[in-house]
Amino acid sequence: MNEKLETVKKNVIECTKCELAKTRNNSVPGKGNFHSSVIFVGEAPGKNEDMHGEPFIGVAGKKLSLALERAGITREEVYITNIVKCRPPKNRVPTTIERSTCQEYLRQEISIIKPKIICILGNTAFNSLLGGSEITKFRGKVVRKDNQLYFLTVHPAATIYNQELIKTLQKDIRKLFDLVTELENSKKVKIDIDYTT
Ligand code: URA
Ligand code: SF4
Repeated sequence: MNEKLETVKKNVIECTKCELAKTRNNSVPGKGNFHSSVIFVGEAPGKNEDMHGEPFIGVAGKKLSLALERAGITREEVYITNIVKCRPPKNRVPTTIERSTCQEYLRQEISIIKPKIICILGNTAFNSLLGGSEITKFRGKVVRKDNQLYFLTVHPAATIYNQELIKTLQKDIRKLFDLVTELENSKKVKIDIDYTT
């Protein structure tokens, strides 16, 4: 692994900067390929992730893996992380304070990996990174903000009991990797929403 990313990981594991440190079993640093052109950003660790210290290894993680597989991608090829790195009690949505306290770690992960595009999974990441809401209205779209591209899609957990949404997630992830291929070949991609000022 990359040395700088190792330092971030170590700091996340030892972190006690917010209340969530008191109730977690394990912090959950980001995981994956630091050469990846894409970083996936979820909300927060759930029960399984908290037990094992790894992101997206529970039921939602299986949905994400499946969508990646359908696009011909393995989890090891990409980098996966969350807005907050510790599990909120009963999986409640992380508070504004928890998110802002934790955001420095995500900022570091992004600045080390320098992804060509960041895939936002669901409303919490959409809101935290771009101030957005109603992801189902905006999913499938490409956003540019401060010279960084983002791709919006639904949270894999939302697809667990919804057959239509799992198809949506799979379709979006296929589109994402078509975009990634274009970006890797230095092609311009169509920006749907531009927040650049
Ligand atoms: N849901 C998330 O948002 N992140 C995880 O790591 C697992 C479930
Ligand atoms: Fe630290 Fe983030 Fe965990 Fe809070 S959620 S204790 S800021 S790593």
